[in-house]
Amino acid sequence: MDELWTEKYRPDSLDDIVNQYQVVEKLKKYKESGSLPHLLLVGPSGVGKTTSTMALAKEIYGKNWKGNFLELNVSYRRGIKAVREEIKNAAMTTSLTEKNFKIIFIDEAETFSDEAQAALRRILEKYSDNVRFVLSCNNSSKIIDPIRSRCVQLHFRPPSKGEVKSWIMRIIENENIEVEDEAIKFLINYGRGNLRKITNLLQLCASSSDKITEEELIRYNRLTGSDDIKKLLKDSFRKDFLDVREKLYELLIDEGLSGKELLIRLHEELFKIPMDDKIRMKIVKKMAEVDYNILEGSNDEIHLKNLLAYIKSI
Ligand SMILES: Nc1ncnc2c1ncn2[C@@H]1O[C@H](COP(=O)(O)OP(=O)(O)OP(=O)(O)O)[C@@H](O)[C@H]1O
Ligand SMILES: [Mg+2]
Repeated sequence: MDELWTEKYRPDSLDDIVNQYQVVEKLKKYKESGSLPHLLLVGPSGVGKTTSTMALAKEIYGKNWKGNFLELNVSYRRGIKAVREEIKNAAMTTSLTEKNFKIIFIDEAETFSDEAQAALRRILEKYSDNVRFVLSCNNSSKIIDPIRSRCVQLHFRPPSKGEVKSWIMRIIENENIEVEDEAIKFLINYGRGNLRKITNLLQLCASSSDKITEEELIRYNRLTGSDDIKKLLKDSFRKDFLDVREKLYELLIDEGLSGKELLIRLHEELFKIPMDDKIRMKIVKKMAEVDYNILEGSNDEIHLKNLLAYIKSI
């Protein structure tokens, strides 16, 4: 497969961001005035939080943007140590540039523990002379007040169906691929406006068929979805159980995966993410138990919830 379309079609400028007009307007004002506050970006997945921040950095710094924009991927380490070591280090070692500040972008800020968030808040204050933090989250109620009050909150909303359609049509024309009308309709309704999900499914399908049909999209969606499964697994370690349960329902109900299919994929993903082997083996054992229960024909959902709650507890 060639380049990922999500990257290929990721806009470089604020003007080309889909839908987020109010946010874009504010970001442009910050750029023009040369003063940027700390930001808290709030909104669902795949609607442009990372993309808008990158576009802002590209516009502020021009060719040198990469040297002034740091996306911190603290992935598994979401405790106070990660904040003290990695984030603080990044903020401290930031040298002054011609713009006087660098941007540090932190994804999924709500997955930091309260204690870690408290440490982050102190860093926000201490290094605000030369660093602007852009925190991104799906749900701002999980962010502690002292951080919220130090950031300007910007809300991102899913694009309308019309905007999703234009996005899809642009890719179809540009890639010169054939897509049935029914398949286009399917894509528009798929993924609740998450452009990353929509684009990935389209590319996956296009890489192996000459003409994309709805049936094919449905088939590929069942075969993959590994991004979602990975997310479900990661989230079950660190997010609120209610969020995890919501995601589980989405996969079982909206996407029509069976309990068995979901379990197989969770099992695959379990071996791809870094973790202590003892913990991994504990989870594998639990998975075998759940597999047996699902085979016995009792309620899939209950057993999967039980598995995810178990993961959360260890
Ligand atoms: N508003 C948008 N305008 C243009 N492209 C977008 C927009 N939203 C998403 N995309 C496309 O989808 C991809 C993913 O978007 P992005 O990384 O900005 O999502 P996000 O909101 O940061 O999601 P997450 O919460 O999962 O990190 C981008 O690479 C881009 O191709
Ligand atoms: Mg993002």
